[in-house]
Amino acid sequence: MKRLSAALALIAPVQAGLRFPCSTLTTQRLDPVVQPGVIPAAHVHHIVGGNAFNATMEGDVGERATCTTCQMAEDFSNYWTAQLYFKHPNGSYHRVPVLPVQPLLGGSDGARSGLTVYYTQFDLSRDNLAQQKITAFKPGFRMTVGSPTVTGKPQVGLRYQCLQGQNRGRELDNFPTGPCSGGIFTTHHFPACWDGKNLDSPDHQSHMYNTIRSDGFVSAPACPASHPVRMPQVTYETVWDTTQFNSMWPSGAPNPFVWSFEGTGAGTHADYMFGWKGDSLQRAMDKSECFYDGCGAIKKQAMSVANECTIKETVREQTDGWLMKLPGQ
Ligand SMILES: *[C@@H]1O[C@H](CO)[C@@H](O)[C@H](O)[C@H]1NC(C)=O
Ligand SMILES: *[C@@H]1O[C@H](CO)[C@@H](O)[C@H](O)[C@H]1NC(C)=O
Repeated sequence: MKRLSAALALIAPVQAGLRFPCSTLTTQRLDPVVQPGVIPAAHVHHIVGGNAFNATMEGDVGERATCTTCQMAEDFSNYWTAQLYFKHPNGSYHRVPVLPVQPLLGGSDGARSGLTVYYTQFDLSRDNLAQQKITAFKPGFRMTVGSPTVTGKPQVGLRYQCLQGQNRGRELDNFPTGPCSGGIFTTHHFPACWDGKNLDSPDHQSHMYNTIRSDGFVSAPACPASHPVRMPQVTYETVWDTTQFNSMWPSGAPNPFVWSFEGTGAGTHADYMFGWKGDSLQRAMDKSECFYDGCGAIKKQAMSVANECTIKETVREQTDGWLMKLPGQ
């Protein structure tokens, strides 16, 4: 495996940031960024990361958490998206299981469901640290990308792919229109330019600026004067295992998957709560050529250890199995 990755690395050098798996921490109706203190929150989220996750999260998360479901042992951040549901023609809903991402280079290292997180410095194959320093997020920092209230219009940085075996297919603005034999792959790219002052903003977005013009892990254009500080570009990848529902999808019918707010494709969104301990993320971002190894400067843990990190359920309600309606809807 090691020899194979080295050989592939020679063909396509990948050295521009961090990529690591995080197992699922919890799936419930909580949202400490958009609805702090609200129990239960409006809709179900799929959440990974540190065990300080709670309805309310203030202060230095990296100092309060004691374990994380992520491979990077000093990363106590939380990462979440809406949960995907299958809507049966009979009106019932079923939660779509999540599979660990099998990255195109390397495996998921034993992650349990969850999602894969990237912190890139420039694009997938380069950093440009010689021209531009990357500034790590500060304790208390949070942001969102996308919005559940958007309908119709595709959102920059939010993408779908129809998996056919190992083939991911092209990036789409919205849910694939036919069944996917390998599940549905979703990507959420966050903006990377910060106003340099605010850890949050009323809409949880305007303290950041999105320079992404097309989608994918493209090179980062310069940050504008209003948001001059270049931060890591954070991206989540999730594989939704839709395969068990393909046979229940009548041919010719519109795609039967909905986000947990009863939303269709365009309304996808994701939330980020920074929680790296001390200067660990800054140390990683200051190093070049460090794609797979924790950047030589930060600690990794076995996913078998990460998988043991759990939290107590705060919202006690059924979110899985066949449901007559979506929780909270
Ligand atoms: C979560 O918040 C509640 C009160 O809002 C508090 O009692 C509890 O200790 C918190 N849990 C964690 C893990 O911070
Ligand atoms: C809808 O179909 C599923 C799968 O066959 C079944 O388990 C569920 O009970 C059905 N719901 C209703 C309301 O009939």
